[in-house]
Amino acid sequence: MSSSPFDPKKPGGGDATGMSRGLVNYGDAGFSLFLRKAFIKGAGLTDHALDRPVIGIADTGSGYNPCHGNMPQLVEAVQRGVMLAGGLPVKFPTISIGESFAQPTSMYLRNLMSMDTEEMLRAQPMDAVVLIGGCDKTVPAQLMGAASAGLPAIQLITGSMLTGSHRGETVGACTDCRRFWGKYRADEIDATEIADVNNQLVASVGTCSVMGTASTMACIAEALGMTVPGGAAPPAVTSARMRVAEETGTVAVQMAKARLTIDKVLTARAFENAMRVLLAIGGSTNGIVHLTAIAGRMGFEIDLKALDRMGRETPVLVDLKPSGQHYMEHFHAAGGMTTLLRELKPLLHLDALTVTGRTLGEELERAAPPFSQDVIRSRDNPIYPQGGIAVLEGNLAPGGAIIKQSAADPKLMEHEGRAVVFEGLADLAARIDSDDLDVNADDILVLKNIGPKGAPGMPEAGYIPLPRKLARQGVKDMVRISDGRMSGTAFGTIVLHVTPESAIGGPLGYVRTGDRIRLSVSQREISLLVSAEELARRAKESPVTVPSADRGYRKLFLDTVTQADQGVDFDFLRPPQTVDRVPKA
Ligand code: FES
Ligand code: MG
Repeated sequence: MSSSPFDPKKPGGGDATGMSRGLVNYGDAGFSLFLRKAFIKGAGLTDHALDRPVIGIADTGSGYNPCHGNMPQLVEAVQRGVMLAGGLPVKFPTISIGESFAQPTSMYLRNLMSMDTEEMLRAQPMDAVVLIGGCDKTVPAQLMGAASAGLPAIQLITGSMLTGSHRGETVGACTDCRRFWGKYRADEIDATEIADVNNQLVASVGTCSVMGTASTMACIAEALGMTVPGGAAPPAVTSARMRVAEETGTVAVQMAKARLTIDKVLTARAFENAMRVLLAIGGSTNGIVHLTAIAGRMGFEIDLKALDRMGRETPVLVDLKPSGQHYMEHFHAAGGMTTLLRELKPLLHLDALTVTGRTLGEELERAAPPFSQDVIRSRDNPIYPQGGIAVLEGNLAPGGAIIKQSAADPKLMEHEGRAVVFEGLADLAARIDSDDLDVNADDILVLKNIGPKGAPGMPEAGYIPLPRKLARQGVKDMVRISDGRMSGTAFGTIVLHVTPESAIGGPLGYVRTGDRIRLSVSQREISLLVSAEELARRAKESPVTVPSADRGYRKLFLDTVTQADQGVDFDFLRPPQTVDRVPKA
């Protein structure tokens, strides 16, 4: 066998290439390689083409995902980059999740996509993988799956959409979607205008144009060292985005040759850098859940209290909606992550390794020089003096809750009020617009049963609409509390991710209309002003029935999904042991 071209150990027989990875089928490695090569030659490839690193390209194009609408061009550019560097690109599909089309919520499917990604990386022969994602859940799903698979992996972001123009005003999805819909609900604009703005909100393919979850995860991926430098910001339809894609392919080949596996990049220090960036960009609250889940796959536990401490010394610097004014295309023009990371330098671990094989600090040294711009502020002139997200605690949320303080009304951040409770989404839909609803602007809206198991999938319903009768009176914000999430593009004084959730018997499940609740962002407090004895009495009187299902993915989900403080990952996908806590206290 030693002279055989199908000897897996022989250079050229496949040893230096991904073609020989995992040859365990049939119990005969030589035969397995023989078959593998026969079938890939069936696709028109020669032996010469196979004698080099194989770079998998995870293609997540889908007609249901306009945020990935530039996928064909991206794949082509990645393939070019791979071939220019002497590798063999092989694209393969995984499921794709488009935020607006996924029921019951995209979060319900994130772990499924992570499992698809992980298992396809394990199953198929490749030396490294380029993960192409963009829409909210796709980048976290890919990073979670790749973290578990352990190969050399690099993230390519699809890029943001362009902004549109409505009657002379710049608009973009989806902070403006909510703002205009709010005006329509309050009868401030008519049916013609709401139809006009609908044509303008999504001006091209690509991800939402504000600092929503997609942009947040793009910035986090770059902060983690998982993209090429400057990989987060270029919009989807620009030549800069295509050049990033080509470079990504080239770097993937270098990573394959150097065996730069993902564990060398996704270190505790990289996660700490990503937490800084999440705070400094005024990022989506979903970013915490996703970062917790990705870190969890590497055995790291994110310490929410420490994140809050970091927040007190990390100002919001990026002036993008919903916390600020601008859009992703402006962030790109302002130098994107390079400008931001340079400003954050004293707060970062510059020795963290990136996919290029160089450290974050080395990449910043190599980057283009700074220039004057007005989208990314300096630390002495921030958009908001603290990090965008504060972590709350109290008897209403023993496992923690969060608030995006940079997008909240300062007048409501210290507030005590009467709870007006909705038992779930159906109850909310049935009563929120009723003229008979007993509610005042000072009340606190409480929505139950939208946690990980509750809805299920922790939908983005935490942005509870203001009761129509109050909206018509000109009320713009109220304190709202739930165990759900909210879109990264939303704004308001909104307490989210209350843990444990109501559906599994968390205290939130026992709040009743008329109870008093106290929110103090300065004290990081969320308290239900009801005695422990009374809560225990209510729990005994009407115990919760934890949701369950008989079969299928829903059963897997309900049986194994964890709470927000564990990233809403499935318990069996996390490694059995915690390696470390991030950040160090
Ligand atoms: Fe895909 Fe917003 S809907 S990024
Ligand atoms: Mg979103």
